[in-house]
Amino acid sequence: MKPILILAVGLVVGSGAIDVVTRDVNASQLVDLSIAPSGGNATSGIQYGLMFEEINFAGDGGLYAELIRNRAFQGDPHWPQSLIGWHPINGANLSLMNLTQPLSWALPTSLRVSSVGKKGSVGFANEGWWGIDVRPQTYTGSFYVKGSYDGDFTAALKSNTTGKTWATASISGKTKSNEWTQHHYSLTVKSKAPDVNNTLQITFNGAHVANGYLDFNLISLFPPTWNHRTNGLRKDIMQAQSDLQPKFLRFPGGSDLSGQWIDAQWKWNETIGDLKYRPGKPSTWGYHETNGLGLIEYMLWCDDLKLEPILAVWDGLWAESVLTTNETLWPYVQWALDEIEFLTGPSTSKYGSLRAKLGYPKPWKINYVEIGNEDNLGGGGASYPFRLSLFYNAIKARYPDIYVIASTIAYGLPGSAGGDYHDYSPPDRLVQRFNIFDNLVGDGHKYLLGKSMILSNVAMIDMFCRRVLFPGAEWTRHQLQ
Ligand SMILES: *[C@@H]1O[C@H](CO)[C@@H](O)[C@H](O)[C@H]1NC(C)=O
Ligand SMILES: *[C@@H]1O[C@H](CO)[C@@H](O)[C@H](O)[C@H]1NC(C)=O
Ligand SMILES: *[C@@H]1O[C@H](CO)[C@@H](O)[C@H](O)[C@H]1NC(C)=O
Ligand SMILES: *[C@@H]1O[C@H](CO)[C@@H](O)[C@H](O)[C@H]1NC(C)=O
Ligand SMILES: *[C@@H]1O[C@H](CO)[C@@H](O)[C@H](O)[C@H]1NC(C)=O
Ligand SMILES: *[C@@H]1O[C@H](CO)[C@@H](O)[C@H](O)[C@H]1NC(C)=O
Ligand SMILES: *[C@@H]1O[C@H](CO)[C@@H](O)[C@H](O)[C@H]1NC(C)=O
Repeated sequence: MKPILILAVGLVVGSGAIDVVTRDVNASQLVDLSIAPSGGNATSGIQYGLMFEEINFAGDGGLYAELIRNRAFQGDPHWPQSLIGWHPINGANLSLMNLTQPLSWALPTSLRVSSVGKKGSVGFANEGWWGIDVRPQTYTGSFYVKGSYDGDFTAALKSNTTGKTWATASISGKTKSNEWTQHHYSLTVKSKAPDVNNTLQITFNGAHVANGYLDFNLISLFPPTWNHRTNGLRKDIMQAQSDLQPKFLRFPGGSDLSGQWIDAQWKWNETIGDLKYRPGKPSTWGYHETNGLGLIEYMLWCDDLKLEPILAVWDGLWAESVLTTNETLWPYVQWALDEIEFLTGPSTSKYGSLRAKLGYPKPWKINYVEIGNEDNLGGGGASYPFRLSLFYNAIKARYPDIYVIASTIAYGLPGSAGGDYHDYSPPDRLVQRFNIFDNLVGDGHKYLLGKSMILSNVAMIDMFCRRVLFPGAEWTRHQLQ
């Protein structure tokens, strides 16, 4: 209730708890606030929180602790498969293959490492996400391989600046010519690397490969994670969040929830279970995302930081198209109900039992569900009242205790629904709106101030629709270009 009150003056002025006195001093305006120790309005207890979506490698290469870039050669029609991040060792020939016997339906493309004509150690290196952080700790990894090979593998973390080896592990080979086998390894590092210019290298004896090649996929390496979670999140970024003391997490987006193209929405049922069965999807932001950070990982993130989940569900809007009839939308209303059942249903329910099978028998609690993202934009506005009402009525009928939040307040709010207010405005317009919430409180709906984005007054100064640049934005812009 303390510092937050000052930020939220627009919300609480008039409550009697704060007196605002404005006076002229040397032509500059000062504002005195006296804050009383009691007498203010009751608040929700979750005023301040986080919103997350996969954008600019915030998950892959960011919070999600996987160190290997492009670990499973994933791609889609918009962001095709590639060898980005991978380099040959000792002249091995690296190529992408779509085998008739892929690792899984979700990971159809794999890496062929050909050692024809090579003697001794051959293999491949991965450069990580702009490097690999090497420090004294134990890293755990695995990879799948297919092919006939009589020998061991070596995994190593090496400096690409000096060639120094930080840690090495010998992995006993148990490959088969007609089957994918998973190999596990761990690497214990004793000293801190001076920079992040390090690689993971996997090598084998090229002369002992029956057909002259081996096929690899899902090559992974993790450092220790926050709360020791398998497939978990980066400790340093979780610590930074924890220090902010947030109270909620809205996920998984953002425009990445909606998707840029037809069928490119975030599909909750393709982000769960074994990584082998997560195809990822074309992100809205210029790359293929792995969804290694998936629905369950989001819930564990909430558990680990004691965050109230605000689960956003897909509601029929893609950037290039929108579903507007009950007939086309109904399967997705059902899909959202299934998602809620997956998270909150008893392990005897259809989707609750799927969760239990994945190792989470205890249901989670979902108190807030948001319907879509920024549905006032991208051609979604005209149909949103109808789409919202379908989701609202279906969710309230089945889960009356869930508080449903509309993704915009532009079209009024049905029943007891709350609204997520987003503002993209030049400074003057934001100033004019300083008291917008004074006129909203009291009408029975709750509001989430989800986004406040200051645009420049100057016409089109960059591709980001006049968004004011701040340190970091420059990098983001180049990244997208
Ligand atoms: C806020 O507090 C004031 C003063 O106690 C009260 O008059 C008003 O009804 C409260 N508003 C809400 C929304 O609770
Ligand atoms: C590398 O492998 C690919 C696919 O097997 C093959 O087409 C190509 O000719 C090979 N390149 C060399 C230099 O051996
Ligand atoms: C593998 O399949 C994908 C999807 O059909 C295709 O885009 C890609 O070019 C194929 N890659 C290879 C190496 O055949
Ligand atoms: C750095 O990595 C590149 C690409 O894999 C490789 O060609 C080079 O030999 C490496 N240098 C050192 C010092 O390890
Ligand atoms: C990493 O080291 C290699 C070889 O010394 C060098 O060519 C490359 O520029 C370095 N990369 C970075 C990001 O420092
Ligand atoms: C996920 O659900 C959607 C919608 O029902 C469906 O089209 C898709 O096939 C499902 N994915 C898997 C892997 O079952
Ligand atoms: C939408 O379709 C479903 C399934 O046929 C039906 O149960 C529901 O009543 C329909 N809702 C509206 C608003 O038409």
